[in-house]
Amino acid sequence: MCGIFGYIGKQNAASILVQGLHALEYRGYDSSGMFVYPSGVIKSVGAVQKLEDEVPKQFFGTVGIAHTRWATHGKPTKENAHPHTSCNGKLWLAHNGIVENYKELKETLEQQGHTFLSDTDSEVLVHLIEEKKKTAPSIERAVRDALREVQGTYGLVVIDADTPDKLVATRFGSPLVLGVGEGEYFISSDAPALVAHTRNVLYLQDGDVAVLRPDGYSVTTEEEKEKKCTLERLTLEVQTMQKGGFEHFMLKEIMEIPDVITNSMRGRIDREHHTVRLGGLDEVRSRLPQVRRAVIVGCGSAYYAGLLGRQMFAEFAGIPASVELASEFVSQHEPLLPDTVLIAVSQSGETADTLQAVRYAKKHGLLTLGIVNAVGSSIARETDAGVYNHAGPEISVASTKAFVSQVEVLLLLALSFAETTQQKEMLFHDFAALPEKVAAVLRQRHAIQKLAEKYAHYNNMLFIGRKYQLPTALEGALKLKEVSYIHAEGYGAGEMKHGPLAMINADFPTVALVTDGEMYQKTFSNLEEICARDGKVIAIATEGNTSIGEVADDVIYIPKTQEVFAPIVTTVALQLFAYYVGCSRGINVDKPRNLAKSVTVE
Ligand code: M6R
Repeated sequence: MCGIFGYIGKQNAASILVQGLHALEYRGYDSSGMFVYPSGVIKSVGAVQKLEDEVPKQFFGTVGIAHTRWATHGKPTKENAHPHTSCNGKLWLAHNGIVENYKELKETLEQQGHTFLSDTDSEVLVHLIEEKKKTAPSIERAVRDALREVQGTYGLVVIDADTPDKLVATRFGSPLVLGVGEGEYFISSDAPALVAHTRNVLYLQDGDVAVLRPDGYSVTTEEEKEKKCTLERLTLEVQTMQKGGFEHFMLKEIMEIPDVITNSMRGRIDREHHTVRLGGLDEVRSRLPQVRRAVIVGCGSAYYAGLLGRQMFAEFAGIPASVELASEFVSQHEPLLPDTVLIAVSQSGETADTLQAVRYAKKHGLLTLGIVNAVGSSIARETDAGVYNHAGPEISVASTKAFVSQVEVLLLLALSFAETTQQKEMLFHDFAALPEKVAAVLRQRHAIQKLAEKYAHYNNMLFIGRKYQLPTALEGALKLKEVSYIHAEGYGAGEMKHGPLAMINADFPTVALVTDGEMYQKTFSNLEEICARDGKVIAIATEGNTSIGEVADDVIYIPKTQEVFAPIVTTVALQLFAYYVGCSRGINVDKPRNLAKSVTVE
């Protein structure tokens, strides 16, 4: 996700800003830029190194702001890269977050005569501040006045060339940390990027407005009261910082899942009208009532998310859906009926097989939708419409947060077709509680680590489940094999007697997804059969289950949810399990052998 770095002091801001951007690189980005007063602005698409290479020798100033952008609104281009400027070129702004009402704001600002240079939602902020500055006594006042009209999230920093002795920073829903040095001050999206300069930091709270000057700083709260600032001391080690303090991107990305769930549903659930609003479908809205069936395509984890989506479509949308491996879809020459929608699921949006499936479906006249995380990617561009995941960049090869967001978006999509208000209301209610349920699993990570270490020496493992938990079992097995190289298979628990039971002995443990729900008793019986054959069982069961110990050697308890949400909460436990098994076996979990993050060849 995007990163902000700002500086004001006595040193050359340009080199400090570049250093800050390098430290924020781990967050993922596709373009970057910086403004240094009075020298000007530089922007670049691609690596921060490219930006650094383009800094002219005479680029000097002691105040500046910089940004790494991961595209959400508009492609990764120089025009869309931050910092953005006002019409008079005096204000410069870098923003993280999403301006939900940017279309309305932009329309009004255009009517007031503002000209926009980018496709971003962020640019409206700098024009809005410019507008407010006309009557405000200070730049910080103008920032406050502007943000009153903004719906969404922001962490932002602003420089006003009329008062270049100060830097204004504020946040709402997107983190910003103030770094306090000796006669110099820093602002950053996260603390690790500050450690090269200072260990004294202040975490801004939502609504805080910080004004940084070369000789000091002040912070006022949302209620515009002077804040008594108590600095915190960072104890992080420099070398761990590229991953935001985590040992691996994979763990960092798993730990982000509660926020990802919130981001993926933000602005999309309208409880007042009992509906799901997916703005990305607006362009094809008139074609949706004709949809009678769906074909979901994807590869790897995206395919398993699709399997969950199929059940959600059947249960909530009343639309029969089939799921195809994108890598098999074209060769199957299946008859495609015109009332079918093809839904392509892809984190990268560049998976060649999935892209081919989209092209094939379009050639046959089907409506195509994308569920894509990478904005502006090929699948996002080539589908007729779609829904972005808003999971932020995923760097680790193993899909973790992206998979969860794919499942979530598929559910939102199914619910956008659903009609029964009461059922939707219950789901919306539980949706809101989901981040905390996932956080409860994340809090158990040290116990899961111990369990993983106990089982890390096995060469084979089976994952079983039923109904929603069958695709979850398949995904759990994929995750384990990817990051630990253990042979792992996912199976329907009801299939055990039809073959896999033959493999079971004391050396072949089973991870059983036996959460509460319609299929609980049947899965429990399958576990009795495994026990009777000396098979070891690691159960994922619902909190409060008192009988699971009869059939399981070890248990990970997860919070109670409606059945449809259980895969998300369970998956997080399975991801942690796979991660720790991989670590315990000394695998480079972020970059497993033979695998790439984006599979652009068929
Ligand atoms: O970028 P995509 O979502 O299209 O990628 C699909 C698969 O390659 C991907 O999910 C892969 O299976 C992951 N490595 C699984 O962790």
